[in-house]
Amino acid sequence: MPGFDALYERLRPECERLIAQYEQPRSALLPIVHLFQQHEGYTSREAMRATAEMLRLTPAVVESTVSFYTLFFRKPVGRYVLQVCRGLSCTINGAEEIMAYFREKLGIGHLQTTADGLFSYEEVECLAACDRPTCMQVNLEFFYDLTPAAIDEMIEAMRGGAFPVAPMAQTRAPESTWAIAQDDQVATGRKSPGATGVARPNNAGGLGDASGVIMLDRFVNKEIAFSERSNERLVRDSRAVYDVLEDGEQHAGH
Ligand code: FES
Repeated sequence: MPGFDALYERLRPECERLIAQYEQPRSALLPIVHLFQQHEGYTSREAMRATAEMLRLTPAVVESTVSFYTLFFRKPVGRYVLQVCRGLSCTINGAEEIMAYFREKLGIGHLQTTADGLFSYEEVECLAACDRPTCMQVNLEFFYDLTPAAIDEMIEAMRGGAFPVAPMAQTRAPESTWAIAQDDQVATGRKSPGATGVARPNNAGGLGDASGVIMLDRFVNKEIAFSERSNERLVRDSRAVYDVLEDGEQHAGH
């Protein structure tokens, strides 16, 4: 991708400086991905490939790390990413009402972006600020003690360009959601077939979530024949896996 190549060239010295700070190059994974996201507004596939190459890791290692954190967005997002905590302390202090207020005010739901590309909204797990509920992050900066009046003020300031946190870079227009479709990942070999049709395979085992039980049942009852392993963990050649994924996406019409 020509645009990315120029960015990569420009950020390369900074990446090398980050790598040199650590005993193990792989320790620079998170700071490097942050750096790319800061400039691209999201963590692109090209950024993950470049990170894997620089750190001599497989793309699977980079992507599994990136997908673990709500700090990274694997698809383009809005100028302001609003992440509201739905953890226990926030929930017993009114997070349900705060989330409902955000959804109504913005007219969008969890993992969605407004049509003007200004706001992306997400409900996230504990943000480790349980002593200041209810709380959220805006472009990864913390805000506490949320009330409907504070939210009104915040949204107005963002719309008017007067919010204290800078808007995110936006190198690509966001779609209506930045959720990653699980079944597409199965089709392109990025998820094992046990996850097919399971509503939230990444949440398997979570409180009250049946996904883990459904997948375990499939293993136990041998409903799915695991004749070969997916390339989730096995890939050694970083270029090869991205070529496979890109081919898959082209065939899927993306
Ligand atoms: S529960 Fe919201 S910060 Fe911990």
